[in-house]
Amino acid sequence: MIVGSIKENTALEKRVSITPDSAKSIIGLGLRVCVEKNYALHIGINDDQYIKNGVEIKNSSSEVLSSCNLITKVNCPSDEEINILKEKTILIGMLNPAKNKNRIDKIINKQIKLFSLELLPRITRAQSMDVLSSQSNLAGYRAVVDCVAEFKKAVPMMMTAAGTVPAAKILVIGAGVAGLQAIATAKRLGAIVSATDVRAASKEQVESLGGKFLTVEQNEDMETTGGYAKEASDEYKKKQAEMMKEALKKNDIVICTALIPGKPAPRILTEDLVKLMKPGSIVYDLAAEQGGNSAFSEAGKINSVDGIKIIGVKSLMNSLPLTASNLYAKNLFSFIRNLYSKEKKNFNINLEDEIIEKSLIKRV
Ligand code: NAI
Repeated sequence: MIVGSIKENTALEKRVSITPDSAKSIIGLGLRVCVEKNYALHIGINDDQYIKNGVEIKNSSSEVLSSCNLITKVNCPSDEEINILKEKTILIGMLNPAKNKNRIDKIINKQIKLFSLELLPRITRAQSMDVLSSQSNLAGYRAVVDCVAEFKKAVPMMMTAAGTVPAAKILVIGAGVAGLQAIATAKRLGAIVSATDVRAASKEQVESLGGKFLTVEQNEDMETTGGYAKEASDEYKKKQAEMMKEALKKNDIVICTALIPGKPAPRILTEDLVKLMKPGSIVYDLAAEQGGNSAFSEAGKINSVDGIKIIGVKSLMNSLPLTASNLYAKNLFSFIRNLYSKEKKNFNINLEDEIIEKSLIKRV
């Protein structure tokens, strides 16, 4: 059984799905691994590093696609790649079925079993495969790094002979995976950090990281049984906007990470609210690609309004592709380990396993 991977469209996606380390782990299961020539050279990994760990190098993507039983990808393959994919193979990636319906249909027509790792159930056994968490965690870290690079002042408090530099104030909206890492990173840099979330349960997590939790008084339970947020009512949104007014006047940097699964990003910062911030402040919108938590945010752009910068994030993982690839490749290895039966020496598509059943794409 051969596991293989081909280059992504590196103009859009810098991550790779097999690293030399993950290849070694896959080979340890009793499988063979091959990748296309210069597969990860763009992120500083050369073919020799793969070869040293037992990986076979193929001269072209078509050689990989036509010889492997299981293909790993970051994104959905292109039409051209789909044409070359061998029938009855397995394909694993972050395939975004809602966005790639036609391509997914074409792949399923070739009797290929497709697994999309964004669909994994968020259960304990699937934690090591959880690509949404591994990538969002990095996004939260990178959000702070980007803001600090863009901010025109120092972040930590400094007492110097020339005077005292006050600590920057950072507000994080949404204390999920990305938000909590943003809080932790901002604290490490010496910022004064506060955060808010609709889920009351997040208060304790924010406080355990040294952040101040800003509560919106409410009676509704805003958390689903799966631990996600429900959409806020109009009344909640009004109270949240009131609370934000004071917070926005005080904070230098606001990092937006609010998300409701399957819905467009909740709009939390209106134009009027953004304009309450001081000139020189920054709004960093991690949800820009899903419509944005903030007014004036556009994915892939930095907009300026009254001296306030609104940064709309796009393809953030391309800013730290090596770490993102290492974590993604580890997630993928864990998934493959669960799928492969060492006794049968075959991939075992056991639909009674919740992990396999939920991540397998049925016809969309
Ligand atoms: P998550 O689901 O772990 O956290 C989202 C949080 O927002 C939850 O705690 C939820 O309770 C909270 N929330 C929902 N509605 C809210 C509201 N009205 N007010 C305050 N809080 C609210 O999501 P995760 O994984 O942390 O992702 C955060 C955002 O970052 C998402 O939009 C995601 O798509 C984006 N992201 C972007 C990346 C990129 O490369 N552009 C990479 C990774 C994440």
